[in-house]
Amino acid sequence: MPLKAGIVGMGLGRHHLTAYAESCHVDHIVLCDLDPARLETYKAQVPKVKAVYKSLEEMLQREKPDLMSVTTPDHLHRPHAEACLAAGCHVLLTKPLATNIEDGRAIVRAGEAAAARGQKLGMAHERRFRPFFVKIKEMLDSGELGEVIHIRSDSIQDKREQFRRAPWYASPEAGRSALVGSGIHQVDVVRFLVGRPVAGAFGYGNRLGGMTFPADKTTSALFRFEGGAIASVTVTYEAHWPKAGAIEDIFRMVTTKGVIVGNQVSVDGRDEWRTIPKDDNPIPESSRVLTHRFIDAVVENRAVDVPVYEGFLSLAAAVAADRSGVEGRELAPEAL
Ligand SMILES: NC(=O)c1ccc[n+]([C@@H]2O[C@H](COP(=O)([O-])OP(=O)(O)OC[C@H]3O[C@@H](n4cnc5c(N)ncnc54)[C@H](O)[C@@H]3O)[C@@H](O)[C@H]2O)c1
Repeated sequence: MPLKAGIVGMGLGRHHLTAYAESCHVDHIVLCDLDPARLETYKAQVPKVKAVYKSLEEMLQREKPDLMSVTTPDHLHRPHAEACLAAGCHVLLTKPLATNIEDGRAIVRAGEAAAARGQKLGMAHERRFRPFFVKIKEMLDSGELGEVIHIRSDSIQDKREQFRRAPWYASPEAGRSALVGSGIHQVDVVRFLVGRPVAGAFGYGNRLGGMTFPADKTTSALFRFEGGAIASVTVTYEAHWPKAGAIEDIFRMVTTKGVIVGNQVSVDGRDEWRTIPKDDNPIPESSRVLTHRFIDAVVENRAVDVPVYEGFLSLAAAVAADRSGVEGRELAPEAL
């Protein structure tokens, strides 16, 4: 039976729209945003968009979508995910799960209650769907690279332009740190690659630099995994690139059988570097792929790729690193 899909939040949500528009399983799309210009743009561009709303509540009541993408600002994930689950929708939620543990727990609990009614709640942790990380994960799972010893994953960002366009990112109301809001990508990907629980986290953060921001804008965190692997994650919003808006992601991994530096991999026994292709503008494509996979999980009634609990584990690890700097000691991530 054809599905009705909805999206709330038409910034990043436009990449989910691409997949719903393409999908043979979706014949009807409804959109919600506070910004009428964004709504009209996508209604005009995509024939499957049948109605647009300024109120999520009204859209859920009238349309009863089968699927909902929640791509609103971070601090709205809890009320919006809860509302969509209560309305009976399968939900795909962008990162971070939430900006604090309490909201994160509430979303997981709402997801558990919805799962008992047959609904799915998946996280759109898009890094896991990028061909670069898919390839590395395959090499780890196949045993080619052995076990992870150490990962460095940094995100060096110039946020001036983005925060001018979308001021909620730097608002006290959103209450997000750079690590929870953005570094969560790196935290999630190192958890994904190591594949073991985080045993302890330690981080230092600061608010140096000119940008007005209510929390730490630069954080260096260390994660200690069960089994001994270590990951180092640094995120900063205060890098002033020549062209505002740039993000440089730095990746390096040492394993028991090889090493990855940037997108070059060397495996023991082969005296050479091989290239793992990296996409320069990957968010539209990984978001499209993960949305298709979410639709397929619903249609085929199988588990979603990234269950909401994974989102909680990444959030709890990032929050532990943020707090540890204040408390001056390593902290274990909070349990659900
Ligand atoms: N790579 C990624 O996975 C990635 C990239 C960018 C953003 N994000 C996440 O996506 C979310 C949205 O970020 P963005 O950059 O698209 O922000 P944005 O500000 O560009 O878009 C958010 C949209 O939500 C709308 N909105 C706000 N409150 C609403 C409400 N109550 N009801 C309906 N619509 C509402 C706004 O009008 C806006 O159009 C955030 O959680 C962000 O962290 C993820």
